[in-house]
Amino acid sequence: MKKLENKTVFITGGLSGIGKACAIAAAKEGANIVVADMKAENSEKAFQEIVNENPKAIFIECDVSKFEQVQTAIQKTIGVFKTLDVALNNSGIIGESSKIGDMTEQAWLKVIGVNLNGVFNCMKHELAQMIKQKSGVIVNMSSILGKVGFSSSAHYVASKHGVIGLTQTAALEYATEGIRVNAICPGFIETPLLDKGGISKDIEVKQHIINLHPMKRLGKSEEIANGFIFLASEDSSFVSGTSLEIDGGYLVI
Ligand SMILES: NC(=O)c1ccc[n+]([C@@H]2O[C@H](COP(=O)([O-])OP(=O)(O)OC[C@H]3O[C@@H](n4cnc5c(N)ncnc54)[C@H](O)[C@@H]3O)[C@@H](O)[C@H]2O)c1
Repeated sequence: MKKLENKTVFITGGLSGIGKACAIAAAKEGANIVVADMKAENSEKAFQEIVNENPKAIFIECDVSKFEQVQTAIQKTIGVFKTLDVALNNSGIIGESSKIGDMTEQAWLKVIGVNLNGVFNCMKHELAQMIKQKSGVIVNMSSILGKVGFSSSAHYVASKHGVIGLTQTAALEYATEGIRVNAICPGFIETPLLDKGGISKDIEVKQHIINLHPMKRLGKSEEIANGFIFLASEDSSFVSGTSLEIDGGYLVI
């Protein structure tokens, strides 16, 4: 028996890295997939990989930092699939590195706009539908950096701490309405995000990051997708408000 048979799963940032792995994993479990993302060079190829697992998939162009675009994306999802059973609020950016004293207001607002406001925008519209249905599961993509600090990334760290706060608050607010809300806190995962942050290219920096994980390696997107399927499915029916650490032991040091 597939774990998400005929469930509608809405995934932001589903065309790359962790989001794409989660979309493919959910499609394999029988879910209808809605990918909400910005268009990029390899968008069509990435979307095709998801469709190959389950043809019941649609793409909606959406900038999660824009309130109305998210509202429209959720409306389109309901228009096509009638229900919203699972939402993975995963879109995120790493931002420019600098210490707080050197961080521009623009750099701060950009990361907060996507990583924190984006998750609020999604949760607000997803919850409106899930309350009507009296059922639903929300999974928010936080980070190990939602639990501890990291030099030169105050915007990212603050946004990911905020995502855990949003997760815990929503879990409390909707616990008796059939809605579960959880977060995932990945360690460093080998995805295009690390290229954007300049981590993959610099061998010394990459080795330093690897050494921060007791398992002495980076994680794989598929390892995060395994946790997502657990939180999205009935396997986690008594789990709400948690922040699942999938981090090769990063946070126990
Ligand atoms: N890779 C890691 O090491 C790591 C670790 C912890 C947490 N995370 C988090 O996991 C999530 C996915 O990251 P990833 O590593 O797969 O990165 P990625 O860069 O491979 O994918 C990010 C996705 O988000 C989308 N996106 C960016 N801005 C958007 C916007 N304004 N509106 C809609 N979509 C937008 C991108 O188009 C892309 O598809 C992010 O929230 C990230 O912060 C990543």
